[in-house]
Amino acid sequence: MELYIDDANISEIRRLIDLYPIDGVTTNPSILSKTGKNPVEVLKDIRKVLGRDARIFAQTIPTDAEGMIRDGHALIKLLGKHTVVKIPSVPEGFKAIRELSQEGISTCGTVVYTPMQAYLAAKSGADYVAPYINRIDNMGFDGVETVKKIQRILDLHHFETGILAASFKNSQQVLDLCACGIKAATCSPSVIDGFVKNAAIDIAVQDFLSAFAKSAPDSTSMADLIG
Ligand code: G3P
Repeated sequence: MELYIDDANISEIRRLIDLYPIDGVTTNPSILSKTGKNPVEVLKDIRKVLGRDARIFAQTIPTDAEGMIRDGHALIKLLGKHTVVKIPSVPEGFKAIRELSQEGISTCGTVVYTPMQAYLAAKSGADYVAPYINRIDNMGFDGVETVKKIQRILDLHHFETGILAASFKNSQQVLDLCACGIKAATCSPSVIDGFVKNAAIDIAVQDFLSAFAKSAPDSTSMADLIG
């Protein structure tokens, strides 16, 4: 499963890509505006930090297909070919997805709250569809189950489209969807930091340190001891 950072804070992106096997960064207008900076400058900074080959997801703004397509071209020009153009999964968006994917541009049908939106974005040629788990939960439906249903639809109809699940509130939701084989998940830094937050793990690591300290009181590493 591909793993993305759903955030535009440059120091957080630097910290997380240093530690975790991260495939890139996903953004949307809200995420970019949280930085308080010009969104284009933020996207350029993200590209600099990630390098040329990692994926950046960036969203179009206009509500008509022509405007979305123009934004898509501009984003690819700005950020390079390893960019996925996010387009809301609404009727004008399906048209834009269809045209951009016919040009060979990667697209993601975003703002997915229902399996029908995902089906239509996939049929229009989207490489990814992005359902919002937590927001679906908040509407009184089950976000994880909705994503599983979308995965069944994509499989049954042999679409090449993959799911980029978004809007997580905890690591268990990420793991549940990882276990059902979704293509990608994008998570906030706090959800990523929660992946391996477990007192039992910390105690086990501490026990090993104490055991080593007993057998080699003057060293703090094997490298020291080996010399
Ligand atoms: O990528 C979409 C995601 O950012 C939505 O997350 O937390 O605003 O529901 P959230």
